[in-house]
Amino acid sequence: MRPVNLKNKIFLDGGNPKETREIINLLDFLDGQTTNPTLISKNKQTLQRLESGEKFTKQELLDLYKKVVQEISSFIPNGSISIQVYADKDTKADEMLEQGRVMNSWIPNAHIKYPTTIEGIKAASESVKLGLKVNITLLFSQQQAAAIYCATLGAAKGQVYISPFVGRLDDIGENGMSLIENIIKMYEKSDGHVQILAASLRNMSHLLYSIKLRADILTLPSKIIKDWFAKDLILPDDNFIYPKGELKDIPYEDLDLNKGWKEFNIQHSLTDVGLDKFASDWNSILS
Ligand code: E4P
Repeated sequence: MRPVNLKNKIFLDGGNPKETREIINLLDFLDGQTTNPTLISKNKQTLQRLESGEKFTKQELLDLYKKVVQEISSFIPNGSISIQVYADKDTKADEMLEQGRVMNSWIPNAHIKYPTTIEGIKAASESVKLGLKVNITLLFSQQQAAAIYCATLGAAKGQVYISPFVGRLDDIGENGMSLIENIIKMYEKSDGHVQILAASLRNMSHLLYSIKLRADILTLPSKIIKDWFAKDLILPDDNFIYPKGELKDIPYEDLDLNKGWKEFNIQHSLTDVGLDKFASDWNSILS
């Protein structure tokens, strides 16, 4: 059962419908799910086929992705399911947009994931004008969050999610949770059309602090959800202090949300690395 005082939405981060079913059975609630090319390329059905020595054509892989999200969507019909477009460093906005339109037709409750690159933001901006819901992924800086806000002005509340990747910032010694703090603070003065989906959450401290900060949404791997369940879905109390250890805080920047989106620095090395990894995981299973 959802804890009465839980104000955030809880999503599962995964690519396997059986796991979705299992988590719904465990929690008795689930507000949505995020998927990505790596999760789909490591999905059980994908691995079974690869074990038999057969790879996928592009169309077969997309058909599998479609089947997976349709099944997940049937389990969470009133939630949101994020589906990620294929993009590498050369993919143009119109190619992403075309994929986004197709993926959006797969289920009635899709958020289309575009990367935080110039081309990805262009595709997101166009998508929003067409009425699609979007989730901008691989986000690692406050400047990127400001750019997305400005590029999607006019969208309805809930139409735009951003996914700051906490764990991957921790991996390079930076305090990923401090990025969430900074974006929340920056958006305090905003119109609220962009919601913060805390992603790449890897442990109970990430979970508890994201709840305490009131991030709109948390996406959690099934293992963390199970750990949380084993602790009776505890919530952080007022005295909860995030144990950041040796991680270095990311300084807050006073950014003007009334600027044009291209005036912000959209580049981040972790976005580039993440884009390459998603593309190579996807390509590695194509024939
Ligand atoms: C979800 O949308 C993200 O793709 C996911 O949380 C990334 O997590 P990772 O950094 O553990 O791969």
